[in-house]
Amino acid sequence: MKSLGVLLSGRGSNFVAIADSIDAGRIPNARIAVVISNKADAPGVATARERGLTTLVIPSKGRTREEHDRELAGALTQHNVDLVCLAGYMRLLSPWFVRQFPQRVLNIHPSLLPAFPGLEAQQQAFAYGVKVSGCTVHFVDEELDHGAIIVQKIVPVLDSDDEHTLAARILEQEHVAYTEAINVVLGGRYELRGRRLKTTQGQPL
Ligand code: GAR
Repeated sequence: MKSLGVLLSGRGSNFVAIADSIDAGRIPNARIAVVISNKADAPGVATARERGLTTLVIPSKGRTREEHDRELAGALTQHNVDLVCLAGYMRLLSPWFVRQFPQRVLNIHPSLLPAFPGLEAQQQAFAYGVKVSGCTVHFVDEELDHGAIIVQKIVPVLDSDDEHTLAARILEQEHVAYTEAINVVLGGRYELRGRRLKTTQGQPL
């Protein structure tokens, strides 16, 4: 049984998608050991509590990145977390933190990276006028929205779209993509050469 630690700062729909996938057996042999937020009032924390999961709030405000990340890493280690999933976690992790969990931190981003890193990626893509966008699940490295790509999903931009309808269709694909990526990583079903990740047969899940 593998243990996931989910980090979030807001709504938590990606967290819910992961939790639903586990409950439905789409992510086999896994459990969410802890849900951690840097924001006490994140709706995702309330949802996690309602689902009976262990939740922690580790506030980031007014603390140095390193101080905060040490507490975060300590909590994840204490809960024996095998894989850390950032699910709308809107705080940059320190290089120190990333080094504690090599190839063990995933992030989801609402664009086809390397296009539109940073905040409000869907709005950036819409304003730029791209004809396709999508989402990316990638390993977290020391640079923002940068690590090796595990799964991407393409979402066409329709003439009838506004930034909200586009963001909503990207979000649907995010929920599918995260489950796929977690299965690839937990199953050891990949080989990584530089930035290129090749999906392999790997362990039976
Ligand atoms: C998602 O769209 C996620 O891709 C994005 O924040 C949203 C969180 O939604 N993350 C980033 O932009 C990270 N750079 P959720 O709280 O409903 O999962």
